Amino acid sequence: MNTSVNAQEGSTTKVSSWNDFDPLKHVIVGRADHTCIPPNEPCSEAKVPEDSDMRGMWGPRPLETVEKANEQLDKLAAILSELGVKVDRPTPLQWNQAVITPDFQTGSMFGCMPPRDVLLTVGNEILLAAMSFRCRYFEYLAYEPLLSRYFDEDPDFRWEQAPRPRLSDASYKAGYFDEITEAERLKRTAELNFVTNEREILFDAADICRMGKDLFCQHGLTTNRRAMEWLQRHFPDLRIHAVNFPGDPYPIHIDATFVPLRPGLIINNPDRPLPDKQRAIFNDNDWEIVDAARPVHNSPPPLCYSSVWLSMNCLVVDHKTVIVEASETRQMDQMDKLGMNVIPIDFRDAYPFGGGLHCATADVCREGGCEDYFPKQTRYTQIKH
Ligand code: GLY
Repeated sequence: MNTSVNAQEGSTTKVSSWNDFDPLKHVIVGRADHTCIPPNEPCSEAKVPEDSDMRGMWGPRPLETVEKANEQLDKLAAILSELGVKVDRPTPLQWNQAVITPDFQTGSMFGCMPPRDVLLTVGNEILLAAMSFRCRYFEYLAYEPLLSRYFDEDPDFRWEQAPRPRLSDASYKAGYFDEITEAERLKRTAELNFVTNEREILFDAADICRMGKDLFCQHGLTTNRRAMEWLQRHFPDLRIHAVNFPGDPYPIHIDATFVPLRPGLIINNPDRPLPDKQRAIFNDNDWEIVDAARPVHNSPPPLCYSSVWLSMNCLVVDHKTVIVEASETRQMDQMDKLGMNVIPIDFRDAYPFGGGLHCATADVCREGGCEDYFPKQTRYTQIKH
């Protein structure tokens, strides 16, 4: 399988990315091949809304939906290549295999459409996340050929793995989802009461919003406080902040909630506003947080885990250019008013495979270095004061 669409054939790899907005040079775009709907497990109820068409289903996704998703992923890769961005692709596994460890068993794996969930790029390091879903335990293997190549090509590349969790029943709160209503979900989000406990270090890379010296981590269903403590020790020169969004009944991944577009500007999901105290660090450092435009769609596509707010899950190519899903005209208009040039791309067929344009990509290289965008710190979000 060809794992690379290389706009700059022959160039060697340089791993370096400190944020989601500096000029993009090299990126990984996921693939939908063999993606499965995994069977129930302690964490998966977190992801599947009560009224979802996915309840009770599991197994390989229909082939025609895989083909349609791959068409859109390939198109995204081609457009990025035309923009001069080097694009790599993961090597899918046959995801329809059981996962068996000394601590748990589950019927299938998931897929490798959303590399953003697994790979956290911080400077010259790509850190493999300690994910809380059993079905995603071996997902990192799809990226191993790329990481191995980067290791050979970039002598400064740091290839890191967060502590592997055990994911036994002891890592989750028993009965957390029994007869849970949406109102109860919202109450628990506000109370920071999530399905994972603090026994292990657990995080998805997509819960972490990278802004130079500061990493803002969403405390939610897929990332716990212990992970933030671990990240602070792992990145001693950076500042780790805990944020949460009480309006979100499914607080999984920060990138349909809080999305920086360029230094000083963030769009925030208006149904999930950042609480005032947590806003202080942005206000004190003259960052503007604006409400994102409302999505055009009333519901996600069939068999989709995510909400309609994938409308704001955009891929920023540089401080003036952003890729937005083509049907999201309100979001595109807002981007235009905010001074961004918008590249529209059809992507809704890819949504059910693990998210939007940001989810479907992971940074390898962006221009720019580790800036201090928040020299004035407040105590409200910091993990260490
Ligand atoms: N957490 C992603 C979404 O809003 O769907």
